[in-house]
Amino acid sequence: MLIVGNWKAYVESQKKAKTLFATAKKLALTSRVKIALAVPGPYIGLLSSQNRSKVLLAAQDVSVSLGGATTGEITAAVLKDLKVAFVIIGHSERRAMGETNEIVSEKIQQALAHGITPIVCIGESERDIDGTYLAFLRGQLHAIFQTLSQEQRQEIILAYEPIWAIGKNAANALSPTDLTEMILYIRKMLVEYVTEMGAEKSIILYGGSVEPSNASALAKDTGVDGFLLGHASADADIFTALVKALLIPKVASSARLKIRP
Ligand code: PGA
Repeated sequence: MLIVGNWKAYVESQKKAKTLFATAKKLALTSRVKIALAVPGPYIGLLSSQNRSKVLLAAQDVSVSLGGATTGEITAAVLKDLKVAFVIIGHSERRAMGETNEIVSEKIQQALAHGITPIVCIGESERDIDGTYLAFLRGQLHAIFQTLSQEQRQEIILAYEPIWAIGKNAANALSPTDLTEMILYIRKMLVEYVTEMGAEKSIILYGGSVEPSNASALAKDTGVDGFLLGHASADADIFTALVKALLIPKVASSARLKIRP
């Protein structure tokens, strides 16, 4: 099971960043879950330099820039230099700022070219009884996967994040039954791009109001490979409770994970 904590912009002091990182280090030692933290850009350097632990570093975004004269951009080369293992691409909060599927594809190319695994977010803004949201998801996936080679497609981690479930609380998250259905649906869509075996092996995360109270139900028998956490990852006690809730043998398994060194 892969747990990616996306601190977003909740963490605004080095002190808090270090405390949260130390908490994750302890959990990574004792637990069977893999933990990655997507921290604000400037904190990547702070935490990377002292990281001898199992906690993997992730970035919340990457630039499409190849480097050089692009003021303010954080390139994949810089992230690679800081030993970043994953980068979140196409998060709905960035898409809301104008990030298109084309930009998402360019960012994926940048990440892959530098050996960083992209965690690509897809998700509908609302649900309707006619199932239009399923067609929307199919369109999002197609727009991204059609630009990638067969080999590149296998490198992608997908994060299914229905926008309507983000930033709320456990009561408003996707239900375990719906998650089971969605994971199946996404794997079925993936068959078209990565073959049946590839689809079975693909890592799919869920994100949207995962909290200590619903984490284990969402993990158990739903077919999900892990979670992309937002607010629950920015509080040491809540994050600890959540990871501990996942530590029952049936749930925690990292067997499927193939993570770059
Ligand atoms: P949330 O955020 O856990 O606060 O709902 C999830 C996300 O945006 O990845």
